[in-house]
Amino acid sequence: MIPPVYSPADERYSDGNMSYRRCGRSGILLPEISLGLWHNFGAGDPLSRSREILRYAFDHGITHFDLANNYGPPYGSAEQTFGEIFRTDFRPYRDEMFISTKAGYDMWPGPYGNWGSRKYLMASLDQSLRRMNLDYVDIFYIHRFDPETPIEETLQALVDIVRSGKALYAGISRWPLEATKLAFEYLDRRDTHCLLFQDRLNMLDRSSVYSGILEETQQAGVGFIAFSPLAQGLLTNRYLHGVPSDSRAAQGRFLKADTITPEIIRRTRELNDIAESRRQSLAQMAISWVLADKRVTSVIAGCSSINQLADTICAIKHTDFTQEELALIDNAIG
Ligand SMILES: NC(=O)c1ccc[n+]([C@@H]2O[C@H](COP(=O)([O-])OP(=O)(O)OC[C@H]3O[C@@H](n4cnc5c(N)ncnc54)[C@H](OP(=O)(O)O)[C@@H]3O)[C@@H](O)[C@H]2O)c1
Repeated sequence: MIPPVYSPADERYSDGNMSYRRCGRSGILLPEISLGLWHNFGAGDPLSRSREILRYAFDHGITHFDLANNYGPPYGSAEQTFGEIFRTDFRPYRDEMFISTKAGYDMWPGPYGNWGSRKYLMASLDQSLRRMNLDYVDIFYIHRFDPETPIEETLQALVDIVRSGKALYAGISRWPLEATKLAFEYLDRRDTHCLLFQDRLNMLDRSSVYSGILEETQQAGVGFIAFSPLAQGLLTNRYLHGVPSDSRAAQGRFLKADTITPEIIRRTRELNDIAESRRQSLAQMAISWVLADKRVTSVIAGCSSINQLADTICAIKHTDFTQEELALIDNAIG
C-alpha cells in the first residue's frame, strides 16, 4: 500500500546513496544513474507502480528523469503519467529535479509532427510541458538527426527555446559525428552550450566509443549520457531461462523475442558468471561497466519494478574493473 502523501526520504542525498558527476563544462551535477521512462510508464501500465518507482528513485538520490514526447504507448502517455505523479507528489521538490524531454520522432499526423523543423520542436515542447504539468524542462533534446532540415533551423530552435526559458539547457541525441561537431560550434557561438549528448552505450553496443562521438563530447566539454545500458534487458538475468511473459521481449515492440537466440543466452550466462565472481548481479555489472568510463556523466536505466531499480542502483558501489575482468567480458561478448 503506497502512502497517499509523499514525503521524500531524509537521507536521499546521504553519502553512499548516490554519486553525482559533473556534466561536461557546466554547473550541473547528474546522478550516475538516471531513470528513463521510455517503457513501463504508458497508459496501460499501473499508475501505482509508476508512482512507486518514481518515489523509490527520488528517495535514493536519483534526481534526473528522462522522457520524450513519444514515450508510452500511446505517444505522450509517459509524460502524462509523469505529469500526474509530479502534480500529486513532486511539485514541492521541482528544484531538486532535473527533467528532460525530446522531440524528433513521429508524434502527430501530418507534415509538422516529426523530424527537426522549428515548427515541430516548438509545438512539441509546448505540448510536453502541458502533459507534464511543468513550466519548464531542464533540458530539451533534438531526438534524432534530420537529414532534410537545415541543421541551422533545428539548432536555432533549440537556442530560442532556451532563450524563452521553456528549457534551461539544450541537448542532442544520436546525431552523427560531423553534424554533432557543427552543432556544438553553432550552439557555443550563440551562448547556448550543449549540455548533454545522449547515445546508446552498453557492453554489447560500443558504437558511440568507436565512432569517436564519446571522445568528441569530452573534448567539447559536453556531458555524455548513455541510454539502454542493459541493452533493454538482455544484459540482465531476465532471459537466462527463456522469455518471461511480463518482459519487454514478450511485448515485442522494440525488443523482439527472436533476438534472444541460444548464442545470446550462452554469452549472457558467461557474463553472468563474471558478474557473480565480482559479487554483482549481471545488471549491476553492465551498469558498472558503462560508468567505469569516466567520460560518461550518467547512465539512463529503465525498469519495470522497484526491485529491479534497487538492484541496479547498487552498481555505483563497484565501478572498478581489473584488466583480467575486462578481458573476460570482451571474450564473452566475442
Ligand atoms: N535518445 C534515445 O534515442 C533513447 C533511446 C532509447 C532509450 N532512451 C532512454 O534510455 C532509457 C533507458 O533505456 P532502456 O529502457 O532501453 O534501458 P535498459 O536499462 O537497457 O533496459 C531496461 C530494462 O531492463 C530490465 N531490467 C532493468 N533493471 C533490471 C534488473 N536489475 N534486473 C533484471 N532486469 C532489469 C527491464 O526489463 P523488463 O521491462 O522486461 O522487466 C527494463 O525495462 C529510456 O527509458 C529512455 O529514457 C533514449
